[in-house]
Amino acid sequence: MDKYTKKVLISEEKIKEKIEELGAQISKDYQGKDLLMICVLKGAVVFMADLIREVKIPVDIDFMAVSSYGSSTSSSGVVRILKDLNESIENKHIIIVEDIVDTGLTLKYLVENLKSRGPASIKICTFLDKPERRKADITPDYCGYSIPDEFVVGYGLDFAEKYRNLPYVAVLDSEAYK
Ligand code: IMP
Ligand code: MG
Repeated sequence: MDKYTKKVLISEEKIKEKIEELGAQISKDYQGKDLLMICVLKGAVVFMADLIREVKIPVDIDFMAVSSYGSSTSSSGVVRILKDLNESIENKHIIIVEDIVDTGLTLKYLVENLKSRGPASIKICTFLDKPERRKADITPDYCGYSIPDEFVVGYGLDFAEKYRNLPYVAVLDSEAYK
């Protein structure tokens, strides 16, 4: 903890437990299918790295980076692709792996974009969900934890590019960074 983080919201143990569950579920659901998991950089990188090691069936991975125009703590829905996929997703069963679904605007754009490339199916796996803040019609198929409307950092999630390396999820102290 430092002066900008006020409490641990999800501990390392809780994270590990949940990822084992998610990995087992995905392994079951995609048995016998050509699965590609797509990590949305940078936030989902820690979650992705842990999650794929709990997936016990063959899986391909790829990475995308997007940026949404807007302030550092809210999204505008206007999305720019900074790094596209390396491989074609045609006829593949894909899972988009995200750190957090907040307004859902980023994912809405991503799903539409990827749909146009002809995958066999698209699902969303998010580590965290803030359903209270939703603006777009997006429902994650796999979700680690639903959290209240607070700004969180750690386990890949940043504030101004910091805190991604925390092994747990903490609530940022909004008073301290004002
Ligand atoms: P959305 O388009 O509003 O759903 O934005 C999702 C993106 O906003 C996430 O991928 C994060 O990068 C960022 N974000 C939303 N809420 C938080 C938070 O509480 N902590 C850190 N990043 C967040
Ligand atoms: Mg993100």
